[in-house]
Amino acid sequence: MYTEVDTITAPHPDVATPAAPAAKMDAYWMPFTANRQFKKSPRMLAKAAGMYFWTPEGRQILDGIAGLWCVNAGHARPRIVKAIAEQAAEMDFAPPFNMGHPKAFELAERLVELTPKGLNKVFYTNSGSEAVETALKMAVAYHRVRGEGARTRLIGRERGYHGVNFGGISVGGIVANRKMFGPLLAGVDHMRHTHDLARNAYSRGVPEFGAELADDLERLVTLHDASTIAAVIVEPVAGSTGVLLPPKGYLQRLREICDKHGILLIFDEVITGFGRLGSPFAATHFGVTPDLMTVAKGITNGCVPMGAVFAKQHIHDAFMNGPDHMIEFFHGYTYSAHPLACAAALGTLDTYAEEGLLTRGAKMAPLFETALHSLKGLPHVIDVRNIGLVGGIELAPIAGQPGKRAFDVFLECWERGLLIRTTGDTIALSPPLIIEDAHIQQIVGTLADVLKKLA
Ligand SMILES: Cc1ncc(COP(=O)(O)O)c(C=O)c1O
Repeated sequence: MYTEVDTITAPHPDVATPAAPAAKMDAYWMPFTANRQFKKSPRMLAKAAGMYFWTPEGRQILDGIAGLWCVNAGHARPRIVKAIAEQAAEMDFAPPFNMGHPKAFELAERLVELTPKGLNKVFYTNSGSEAVETALKMAVAYHRVRGEGARTRLIGRERGYHGVNFGGISVGGIVANRKMFGPLLAGVDHMRHTHDLARNAYSRGVPEFGAELADDLERLVTLHDASTIAAVIVEPVAGSTGVLLPPKGYLQRLREICDKHGILLIFDEVITGFGRLGSPFAATHFGVTPDLMTVAKGITNGCVPMGAVFAKQHIHDAFMNGPDHMIEFFHGYTYSAHPLACAAALGTLDTYAEEGLLTRGAKMAPLFETALHSLKGLPHVIDVRNIGLVGGIELAPIAGQPGKRAFDVFLECWERGLLIRTTGDTIALSPPLIIEDAHIQQIVGTLADVLKKLA
């Protein structure tokens, strides 16, 4: 069990006494942030350890979202910190093109011990968005190298989130992320999303109804013909669109339809990877193996940017032809397999293994579920969803002001020492996997108080 800093309730010992507020905030254009609101009333973080952040003034903040779905082992874990520091001193950078370094290979071997059988090749990236672009390109190129070059179409899903690059927003289905950016990738289509409050509200774990929504892929096959479709990409559990769980049997059905038509299935496991559902991956949890799988975030416990694509052997092998001296896949990043990221990932995998964190979510899930569902009946709550250590609490929007109700809850929780995340009017929870019952009670207690106050 994790104990190092669990009992700290006072200000972090190293936090300086109140610093003068940052003098200037003009230059930094913040990502996915209401910049003007933030700069009027900044929320600054200065330290982190275990389940907590601390503000520059020393105020303790319970981390209800593992930073951003990434710090699965909690903050400032000694093995990871040491691994990064030692690597920085030993070799800061090594070119990844035509050169290698031992930790890149060691990490790949360690990673494929955890993935579902068959996903045994690793291609490194630096983020989830890059992992998605890589997987999409791999899928299209795979069909071409094996002589089915007409298979270029990519199928995503309404409400899907696959990062912010052009491929990712094209297959993604969140309108705010798409509407500003022109025509996007050509040859993309979308299946229907699976959110169905009327039939599935307050389901515990995966919802009962909606497996038939996977048949929407058959509709698109009929429309476009399978011979034009390269791949389908879905989040097994969708986070950024408001915590949507796959209906019972949905992913299995999607797998069957993809197999029937020779379409590659890509699971975007950027948030579900590395223990979030109580299994190493969602693919392991649901017993459905995709052809390509993207990860990021938890691969390094969020400490150094890194992502990856796992590919099946036959996909990799299809590229391994032509003269020996030729590059087989014209794709990669300057920082692919960055030594600091590889070191951080190895330290992370050690920490996960030593503390059983990749399955701890399953043990804590019943407590988490019971606590979350106690919010049913509180003002504006219209649904509670949960799986493993993921929670979604959907609120009724304020008329004409979508997202405002949940944002108000976010601000009030911050004042009360709790960091949550909101997407639209859904509160999304994804605490570090080291969480204990007392933290769960604090999260849910704070939320209950805030919902009552803002009623
Ligand atoms: C499912 C999914 N895919 C891709 C991404 C993008 O990852 P990144 O922000 O590291 O580019 C995210 C980020 O939250 C995600 O949830």
